[in-house]
Amino acid sequence: MTKVNATITGVAGYVPEHRLTNDELSKMVDTTDEWIMTRIGIKERRILKGEGKGASDLGAEAVKILLQKTNTKPEEIDIVITATVTPDMQFPATSNIICDKTNIRNAFGFDLNAGCSGFLYGLETASKFIESGKYKKVILVGAEKMSSIVDYQDRATSPIFGDGAGAVLLEATTEDVGIIDSKLQSDGAGRIHLHQKAGGSVKPASHETIDAREHYIYQEGQPVFKWAVSKMADISVEMMERNNISPEDLTWLVPHQANMRIIEATAKRMGIKKEQVMINIQHFGNTTAATLPLCLCEWEPQLKKGDNLILATFGAGFTWGAMYVKWGYNGK
Ligand code: UT7
Repeated sequence: MTKVNATITGVAGYVPEHRLTNDELSKMVDTTDEWIMTRIGIKERRILKGEGKGASDLGAEAVKILLQKTNTKPEEIDIVITATVTPDMQFPATSNIICDKTNIRNAFGFDLNAGCSGFLYGLETASKFIESGKYKKVILVGAEKMSSIVDYQDRATSPIFGDGAGAVLLEATTEDVGIIDSKLQSDGAGRIHLHQKAGGSVKPASHETIDAREHYIYQEGQPVFKWAVSKMADISVEMMERNNISPEDLTWLVPHQANMRIIEATAKRMGIKKEQVMINIQHFGNTTAATLPLCLCEWEPQLKKGDNLILATFGAGFTWGAMYVKWGYNGK
């Protein structure tokens, strides 16, 4: 029987207009452009402004662009999966809201939370729906309004995160392209280092939780950094080795954009040059589940059919993973 692969047939990204620069942030918390550039590598991040706007507004914009670019009608879509840690509401799922805002009415949808690895987990999930043969067109969205959970009085976390969204269309192919291999991992013991303390079922919102500023991201930077460097590098090297990809064979590393130093350490361990790495952290910061599709979208014009890509992530959970993708079409 011919093997069916899931392949990405289109990609779109959307970021809100407002730019929060390091200089502007330095007026809000005790930090400097120099510290942020040296330690993280971010120059500015985008912020979604306006009352009543959430992750779905960013995701819906990305989906609208994706449908237009790929010449796809909303009614052709079978499934919409949204990876996010900043859903519009606890329920219903942001996917359902995105479908409503984009007129996708013949699909089912659900959200997936795997921290900064959400998009990679989503690709794994979406690809299985396609490979089953039952579903023809699946949209995966990564959409985050990180500014809704960032404490702009905390200098340790406020420089890092930004808002944005990206979306890809997945379809079946019998050609030797698409999602070829993947390995995903998680370790819930890592939750002590990176989480949001209140607002879930363990500690519902109360006056006390608000006074204690517990509805924001809590991160112990150093242990997360150490885990991220070792896990993302190890799993990316493993993905290269088990698919016989030499550093020269690899066209692009598409890493989660959390910290320039983590990206550089991963590239070094893989034995690849910086020119082989998609990096846009300086413009957008860490957009959590949206970093990978925002990279793919920016580099899409340069991508060629058959290019070897390794996608790699690390995030809250802890969650991490790597995926080998043979790109399926020539970018325009
Ligand atoms: O995407 C999800 C996964 N998350 C990550 O991958 C994040 C991983 N962690 C990191 O990227 C880094 O740990 C951070 C960027 C969060 C922090 O960088 P660091 O080099 O680990 O700094 P640090 O926390 O060890 O702090 C070093 C110093 C401290 O001062 P003292 O104690 O040495 O006097 C901090 O108080 O830098 C200080 N500091 C700052 N100074 C100026 C912390 N934040 C700031 C700031 N501006 N924004």
